[in-house]
Amino acid sequence: MAIVTILDVIRTKRDGAALSDEQIRWFIEQFTARTIADEQAASLLMAIVWRGLDARELATWTAAMIESGDRLDLSAVGRPTVDKHSTGGVGDKVSLPLCPLVAACGVAVPQLSGRGLGHTGGTLDKLESITGWHGDMSNDAFIAQLRDVGTTIAAAGPRLAPADRRMYALRDVTGTVEAIPLIASSIMSKKIAEGADGLVLDVKIGSGAFLPGIDRARELARTMVGLGEAHGVSTVAVLTDMDQPLGRAVGNALEVAESIEILAGGGPPDVVEVTLALAREMVALAGVDIDPAERLADGSAMDHWRRMIAAQGGDPDAALPRSTEIHTVRAAAPGHVARIDARKVGEAAWRLGAGRARKEDPVSPIAGAVLRAVAGDRVAAGDPVIDLHLDDPTRLPAALEALAEAVTITDEAPAPRRMVHERITRDDLGGGPA
Ligand code: URA
Repeated sequence: MAIVTILDVIRTKRDGAALSDEQIRWFIEQFTARTIADEQAASLLMAIVWRGLDARELATWTAAMIESGDRLDLSAVGRPTVDKHSTGGVGDKVSLPLCPLVAACGVAVPQLSGRGLGHTGGTLDKLESITGWHGDMSNDAFIAQLRDVGTTIAAAGPRLAPADRRMYALRDVTGTVEAIPLIASSIMSKKIAEGADGLVLDVKIGSGAFLPGIDRARELARTMVGLGEAHGVSTVAVLTDMDQPLGRAVGNALEVAESIEILAGGGPPDVVEVTLALAREMVALAGVDIDPAERLADGSAMDHWRRMIAAQGGDPDAALPRSTEIHTVRAAAPGHVARIDARKVGEAAWRLGAGRARKEDPVSPIAGAVLRAVAGDRVAAGDPVIDLHLDDPTRLPAALEALAEAVTITDEAPAPRRMVHERITRDDLGGGPA
């Protein structure tokens, strides 16, 4: 067996050749063991940004990332397990109502989350705005709750794809995040290691999405579906709209409050539509013949929410924290609200403190934005359009700057917003994942 060196690996990819399986496995193993210098790993990652990985390289890369840690065994749960992953966006609180809703349909939902960067916190940050709730638990407690309650949302432990934990941090500071093979292997190694039988991917498109354009989003979705299926996880991707914020609330406790409205049978129609579309895909993957809309209407999704929150130390009846200081942004002209730019609203919420710039930063539970008007609404000049909920009022000017031209008002009513654009399954892949 030839000796592998990091310089050979870097030069192979730099010059546009394919890495051997041996080179890939060696790299991921050594990188996880911290025997490769960050500058050398970053150099290889940059070569991958430019040269890509072919289908065979990507399959080996992803398998090696999964094998860098443990793959959970969920067989003790005793019913089908299906999770969901979203590429994230502004006001994307869908996991909160979705997990208990799908659990109420008899399908267990194991969700492990990290504390990512973003306009608002991740799912864990949102749930932590509920008094007493915590997401840290052992694998045994995670599985026991899945069996007893049907869903657990918890913090990913250090043994879940540790190669990715280190690699994502390095990519974040070396301009190497935006490469489809690296994104797909990063997301899928964590999701496959989680051990679920099925996975539904919500791939966002539009200004507030991680990859705004539909072509790249579709390519990412196809790549991830291929990887999931190759590892025995039934995987479906849905491309959904993130050109405007999802729902009206953007911010941690604000999004929990909106999720509870959805579980109570109300809530903004766009979030309800996306939640039900994903829930239907999840129960179908599990082979369960129930319409999730019934479980939302009969209150059983709400019951599962309350049990999930209580099982993780939270008080489902505790009042959520709220800001006492609100600044209202008003319509500059009369007309129809045609579009509210997701990216700009997300940046405003982030500047108010709802999201973090570095992984170790705290997030504010109360800062954020609430849309008082949404696309299609008629407004008079001076009508309220966005309420900014402040934690630290000195941050308001930066948030207002981010919101410049966020709201488009036109004389004509806009076309209705389409939430679900495409669905990608293994049958759409043809020859292979890449
Ligand atoms: N989210 C991840 O988990 N990984 C990426 O590479 C990008 C987004």
